[in-house]
Amino acid sequence: MTSTLITGISELWTLDPALDDPAAPHGAADGQVLRGAALVIEDGVIAWTGRAAEAPSADDSVDVGGRAVLPGWVDSHSHLIFDGDRAAEFEARMAGQSYAAGGIGVTTEATRSASDDRLEHLVRSRIAEAVAGGTTCLETKTGYGLTLEQELRAARLASSLVEAGQLDEATFLGAHLVPAEFDGRDGRPGADAYVDLVSGEMLAAVAPHVRWIDVFCEDGAFDPEQSEQVLRAGAAAGLGLRVHGHQLGRSGGVGLAVELGAASVDHVNHLEDTDVEALAGARGTTVATALPACDLSTRAPLAPARRLLDAGADVAIASNCNPGTSYTSAMTFCVATAVLQMHLSLAEAVRAATRGGALALRREDVGHLAVGARADLHVLDAPAAIHLAYRPGMPLTHGVWRAGVRQT
Ligand code: NIG
Repeated sequence: MTSTLITGISELWTLDPALDDPAAPHGAADGQVLRGAALVIEDGVIAWTGRAAEAPSADDSVDVGGRAVLPGWVDSHSHLIFDGDRAAEFEARMAGQSYAAGGIGVTTEATRSASDDRLEHLVRSRIAEAVAGGTTCLETKTGYGLTLEQELRAARLASSLVEAGQLDEATFLGAHLVPAEFDGRDGRPGADAYVDLVSGEMLAAVAPHVRWIDVFCEDGAFDPEQSEQVLRAGAAAGLGLRVHGHQLGRSGGVGLAVELGAASVDHVNHLEDTDVEALAGARGTTVATALPACDLSTRAPLAPARRLLDAGADVAIASNCNPGTSYTSAMTFCVATAVLQMHLSLAEAVRAATRGGALALRREDVGHLAVGARADLHVLDAPAAIHLAYRPGMPLTHGVWRAGVRQT
């Protein structure tokens, strides 16, 4: 057993679930942020937290020099398995074009052509970028293969990276777009044939390698009926459910996610009051995940995270790193945006990017630094976490530990 004492912590955001205040469920309750603190890591988990003066001894120690320490970011939504970029599409968007799901096909073509080694190298380098920005728990999806063989290849890659402790969660997103070889060939029947493939043979092949199934429920992708077919098949195969919903319009994804008890519905840009009420009613089951970087990159109306929190919904913040709508894994940027543009308090934004992400992944071991949690630390190059929004765009990650092992 080896132990490390971390000292010199100006602010320690334990966000200890045992101290949650039911009357103020979204920010940081009393006792969840300690000042002048220390912590002990033992065998990859948090063994002790408290006042520096009362710290026990340990095998070795690290002084972080008066910096703030947060749980590492929990990024519950990313699409890292791809080749190619879509900078030209982005540039056209900035010149006034709007985002349409069809761009997924461009990435699918590039991804299908990539060798296994190249794809793994690309994914590993994207993970390294995320970790360098303070992310310590990371979900990623298939979805740029869209044939049985290619989706299986992506799922195997994701699952091998989960096993290697590089990634944390793998999701099957065969229902990302109807691929060109089905779409348009004979119209809707072609789409239905693809949905049958995804929810049949493809799912059977991929399911052993992933924990989750996701569907892009949107005009131009899959309608609610097709989405429901995919999700019900995934549930029957033992997978947890996730939904891309209400990104481009009021797609029906929120109602579907709530009805089927999905762990998360992500994007949520276009919400009527009834959608917000449905998500508030699904608190504890279905998390509304806001993707601030995607909203900016697509010039979409920002997800109404403030309204969702005020109504009592669970909210997460994730990066949605992908080549089309959000080519960044910078969770710190997402948190700053949530504060500056979505009107969350700093504590609400930090919580959504840590505990919120953990809830969206149905995990209790990450997203906080209470005793027993995985020792995932994000040491800021700042004395207080408010600097995340006060100094937007600055490189504020000083150090990162994942499962007790220093990464940067
Ligand atoms: O979450 N919306 C669907 N999937 C991605 C975008 C994928 C793409 O355009 O390549 C998203 O935004």
